[in-house]
Amino acid sequence: MAKLVVITGVSRGLGRAMAEEFVRHRYTVAGCGRSAMEISRLSDQLGAPHRFAVVDVASDTQVAAWAKDLVANLGPPDFLLNNAAIINRNAPLWRVPEQEFSDVIDVNIKGVTNVIRHFAPAMIERASGVIVNFSSGWGRSTDAEVAPYCATKWAIEGLTQALAQELPPGMAAVPLNPGVINTQMLRSCFGGSASSYPTPEQWAKRALPFLLKLGPRDNGKPLTVS
Ligand SMILES: NC(=O)c1ccc[n+]([C@@H]2O[C@H](COP(=O)([O-])OP(=O)(O)OC[C@H]3O[C@@H](n4cnc5c(N)ncnc54)[C@H](OP(=O)(O)O)[C@@H]3O)[C@@H](O)[C@H]2O)c1
Repeated sequence: MAKLVVITGVSRGLGRAMAEEFVRHRYTVAGCGRSAMEISRLSDQLGAPHRFAVVDVASDTQVAAWAKDLVANLGPPDFLLNNAAIINRNAPLWRVPEQEFSDVIDVNIKGVTNVIRHFAPAMIERASGVIVNFSSGWGRSTDAEVAPYCATKWAIEGLTQALAQELPPGMAAVPLNPGVINTQMLRSCFGGSASSYPTPEQWAKRALPFLLKLGPRDNGKPLTVS
């Protein structure tokens, strides 16, 4: 049976490029995002057995229903890629509105935890699988005007390393810095200079061999796609 990868945030950017690349590597792909139109487009493009659903990772109820359905039909994932995230509009911390700050926390930290809460038990029961939590260069360094985003990615580094200490042998949890890639998120913070970086499709061709090699020996290691 084909291996299963679950990817959050497949409607564009790195998530979408990884979904297409995993299909090329003969994985079954299950993914989610909030944009119904993009999710439906991806379902049409990639077809069965791949499954794409409109799920907001910040909603524990939506994630619970999504995970229940997927695990019942496809079993526990071999890879669980917590890729979905948002970034604040460039601004000094004191100018970030309360709601915007909350949204970044809700998606980038609580969303990742919701996904782990509902997928990890089946993986732990089978004592196999790799959980990759997308971090950032800004999970290990900082810059002005992206403090909320930095706070969440530093949190992902700590959360993932603590999770790694809780998993049974045979599994791994890894905080992953993907590098710098020309996506909508990068354009939001870098503006026009984002275009000098690789496209998500170019990145995914490099990232897949890297991801596929991850295993128990990498548990808890902060890694960067080389
Ligand atoms: N691009 C870079 O250079 C870079 C650098 C370092 C780290 N990263 C990390 O890499 C990951 C992917 O980033 P990207 O550049 O591909 O960003 P992106 O182009 O903005 O794509 C983000 C994806 O996440 C989804 N998403 C956002 N909020 C969601 C929610 N609440 N529920 C479900 N899906 C949600 C978006 O879809 P919807 O809007 O349809 O929900 C979209 O598919 C992120 O974790 C990011 O922090 C990127």
